[in-house]
Amino acid sequence: MTTVSKEIREGIAIITVDNPPVNALSHSVREGLAREMRELSSNADVRAIVIACAGRTFIAGADIREFGRPPQPPHLPDVVTEIEAMEKPVVAAIHGTALGGGLEVALACHYRVALGSAKIGLPEVKLGILPGAGGTQRLPRIAGPANALDAIISGRHVGAGEAKNWGVLDEVVEDDLLDAAIAFAHASADNGPRRTGEMEIDSDKFGPEFFAQFRESIARKTRGYFAPERCVQCVEAAVSLPLEEGLKRERELFQECMSNPQAKALQHMFFAERQVSRIPGIDKGTPRRDIKRVGIIGAGTMGGGIAMNFANVGIPVTILEVEQEALDRGLGVVRKNYERSAAKGKLTAEQVEGLMGQFTGTLSYDDLGDCDLIIEAVFETMEIKKKVFGELDRVAKKGAILASNTSYLDVNEIAASTSRPDDVLGLHFFSPANVMRLLEIVRADQTAPDVLATCVGLAKAIRKVGVVAGVCHGFIGNRMLSPYGREAALCVIEGAKPEEVDAALFNFGMPMGPMTMSDMAGLDIGYLNRQGLGRESYETKAYDWMDRLVESGRKGLKVGAGVYAYDEGSRTPKPDPAVLTLIETESAKAGIERRAISSEEIVERCMMALINEGAKILGEGKAYRASDIDVVYVNGYGYPPYRGGPMHYADSLGLENVYAKICEFGEKFGPRWWQPAPLLKELAEAGKSFADYDRENAK
Ligand code: CAA
Repeated sequence: MTTVSKEIREGIAIITVDNPPVNALSHSVREGLAREMRELSSNADVRAIVIACAGRTFIAGADIREFGRPPQPPHLPDVVTEIEAMEKPVVAAIHGTALGGGLEVALACHYRVALGSAKIGLPEVKLGILPGAGGTQRLPRIAGPANALDAIISGRHVGAGEAKNWGVLDEVVEDDLLDAAIAFAHASADNGPRRTGEMEIDSDKFGPEFFAQFRESIARKTRGYFAPERCVQCVEAAVSLPLEEGLKRERELFQECMSNPQAKALQHMFFAERQVSRIPGIDKGTPRRDIKRVGIIGAGTMGGGIAMNFANVGIPVTILEVEQEALDRGLGVVRKNYERSAAKGKLTAEQVEGLMGQFTGTLSYDDLGDCDLIIEAVFETMEIKKKVFGELDRVAKKGAILASNTSYLDVNEIAASTSRPDDVLGLHFFSPANVMRLLEIVRADQTAPDVLATCVGLAKAIRKVGVVAGVCHGFIGNRMLSPYGREAALCVIEGAKPEEVDAALFNFGMPMGPMTMSDMAGLDIGYLNRQGLGRESYETKAYDWMDRLVESGRKGLKVGAGVYAYDEGSRTPKPDPAVLTLIETESAKAGIERRAISSEEIVERCMMALINEGAKILGEGKAYRASDIDVVYVNGYGYPPYRGGPMHYADSLGLENVYAKICEFGEKFGPRWWQPAPLLKELAEAGKSFADYDRENAK
């Protein structure tokens, strides 16, 4: 297939890239662009050139699928240099998104015309790399180092208006892009090229202090990441070096990033997030149900947060509570959330009112009769859930989807309490539901394919990443969290201080350690859960010390004391000697001789527990692929994306090593919690990885 074609109209050559779905710079595109530049430079009939794209977007970047394979010439940096060196003006006509290598091509063009809806960006940092075809050298020259750093480090999509203010776009039009670009090419034919690479930066304004301040401003957000610092170094080079030397530096740092394991992990995440919506038994032909109105049962923090997701995308919501006071309180919280966004300048007062206008409160189930999807977010007991679903069965119209936001309960049992189990599934949102990207979509035994397909599409519509999970206790995420928490708590009773456990996992890349997390969630929640379970079903050694804390009133952050102490009004955890004494007493009671536990052991035990449970989930078919589990952990639990999620992390360690470690732990700590997952054993013995498993079972 020809991915780059040419047409000449009245002295203007129009080069069209047509490489669906996103016009990525695959080998044939690079080759085509280089070929056309060579031909056109000696074509006397052509005075100027337009580079445009067919389909939904301008070039959206390098072809990520080619990463990891030996690069085939012509290389993108050379193509970009050839474009910039043209003696005839080259104009980029941008629609959709000009991203990464796509923007680098556009920056090498001499002028840029774009649609008002277009966006530009250098998102390479999200893939663990940096713009490697001059982006770090040209963007600072045309947009200034501050804007360039903002774009390169955030990787965000910059709207056409902002890009024009930065000087990146010369003209923004609302329609007829190609005509506008051709007109621009005619007008610029006499002026000749204007090369971005030849633009000057006032380097005096951007000395070491500027960069030191910038580094400080991004330190918290970029903790643990390899690429951002290299991006900053590139922009420093743009400020202090001539173009050619800057490009050389960019190349060196690009290679450093590309060969760092983080690049592989982040690229794995990119594709993993796009895989989640591929569901066995569901394809484009599967019918979808129309969701025009959503009902939410419960106006608490969870219900309100869930409802906001729908209101935000223009789907009206009916929200039900049992008492007027609770309903008013819930809607008040929603309003406050929107007003907080307005205070930050993200919404206008008018928009806040518009969003609030999407909500209808009610105290009566009968008002849910016109809802196409009803999600319950009520108290987490089977008895209450069944009562709610009984009511829903009575009032919901035929064909309405009935969903439970349960975190642990058996969705099959909930479904069976209705006369229409095929309309029922789990939609497990993560708190705060209006912020967290993850949505677990729990497929029950009888969930109809069109119900599942509708909810998978809906997740995307409300800007969530929806991962399908099977029915099991805790589904994917919370089921894995349990052994992770157990090992963390065991490390404490065996000899580590809580702050040592937290520091080890924080340094591994988790946003916070498990002890801080338990305090935030409330220690009483786990306590109540354990009371209901019975001592034989959990590891008492791990949790008795936490139970003693709760019994002494230390329920966590909300009461200012838990595993840690908190100063009045502060959320900063402080180690408390009284807690350590309590832990030591509990260790003695359990006959444990406390020992020093290294941070390496803490991380290994917690990670191996996580991976082993993940492998069980995968082997039991409760997740469709290992990469789905990675998506859950990264988006729902803050697992460092640069490690690619727990299953990719296991692959990076080698499954034979992971399996050996789990067997070793089984011998050391007893077999009760350290039975290797059968799938892990099988893959390790076959010398395979979870990625191999996903490939072989591609769905
Ligand atoms: N290379 C290869 N395939 C890509 C791709 C890329 N750069 N970008 C997107 N795709 C594929 C996706 O994998 C997906 O494929 P499937 O349908 O088979 O799953 C398809 O294109 C559509 O993508 P989305 O589902 O993401 O579509 P969308 O409309 O929601 O978003 C987009 C479109 C904004 C372009 C988004 O795909 C995106 O952000 N892509 C990545 C852009 C990027 O990171 N570019 C920089 C690449 S690195 C680079 O360019 C380095 C360099 O300088 C040398």
